Amino acid sequence: MTDRYLMCAPDHFEVAYVINPWMEGNVARGDNQAATRQWNALTRLIGKVAQVERVMAAPSVPDMVFTANAGLVLDSKFVLSRFRHPERQAEEPHFAAWFATQGFEVFTLPPGMPFEGAGDALLDRQAPLLWLGYGHRSDQACAPLIAGWLDIDIQPLKLVNERFYHLDTCFCPLEGGYLMYYPAAFDAASQARIAARVPAEYRIPVVDADAFDFACNAVNCGRHVFLNRASAALTHELQSRGFAVRQTPLTEFMKAGGSAKCLTLKLTEARLPVVQAAA
Ligand code: ARG
Repeated sequence: MTDRYLMCAPDHFEVAYVINPWMEGNVARGDNQAATRQWNALTRLIGKVAQVERVMAAPSVPDMVFTANAGLVLDSKFVLSRFRHPERQAEEPHFAAWFATQGFEVFTLPPGMPFEGAGDALLDRQAPLLWLGYGHRSDQACAPLIAGWLDIDIQPLKLVNERFYHLDTCFCPLEGGYLMYYPAAFDAASQARIAARVPAEYRIPVVDADAFDFACNAVNCGRHVFLNRASAALTHELQSRGFAVRQTPLTEFMKAGGSAKCLTLKLTEARLPVVQAAA
């Protein structure tokens, strides 16, 4: 099956406000033409291995380009995001309408319960498990509701570094059950929970330089990994696990605190079977 990803062209993209530390000092400092070139290059790369669907960019919501934050997809269900910051809340009706038109069953969280979709909720690639980042944007209180709607086990993880304010900035489950992540972005208890669920030989911790280059914010489609930048050591590490790594500069989007993965939302997320432990 060909995977499908939802993207939104940067027609109205700019850094117009500050809601994360990456945006500080970058208001009105972006270059929309450069952003468009970078976005087109990423779209072309993904388009070679998957199908890219588009949601129309709306004016006055410059961060709508970060479709990972539209909500969370599993099979034909979609949990709509409830943005923490008023600056992004006007994106919600646009995403709700797109998913309803596409035939998804749309679930809506109660008011006052922030949840930022696949920015903070990432499906494990080995087990039917949802990792949920909280501490900056999403509220841990949404876990029981989402677990019930999607019938999935949820493992909350506490994010403690404000530069890594969404789970997908520091945590990337990869095909085959691997996990690329930045341990320092999590509190000690969450690091222990990760270690308890993912065997050491499947964990790929990244160093500060790679984390700050948004290496964990990677799009993984099958054996392909698309990201802004990765060191030679990390590239080698990923290659040795069978991944083909492709770097594509996304510096314009980093001014807003996002990179490759934030610019996409995987639409073909299927429930994984429960793997029986070997006897
Ligand atoms: N400026 C956006 C925000 O702060 C960036 C979102 C990046 N998206 C992501 N999935 N990490 O909300």
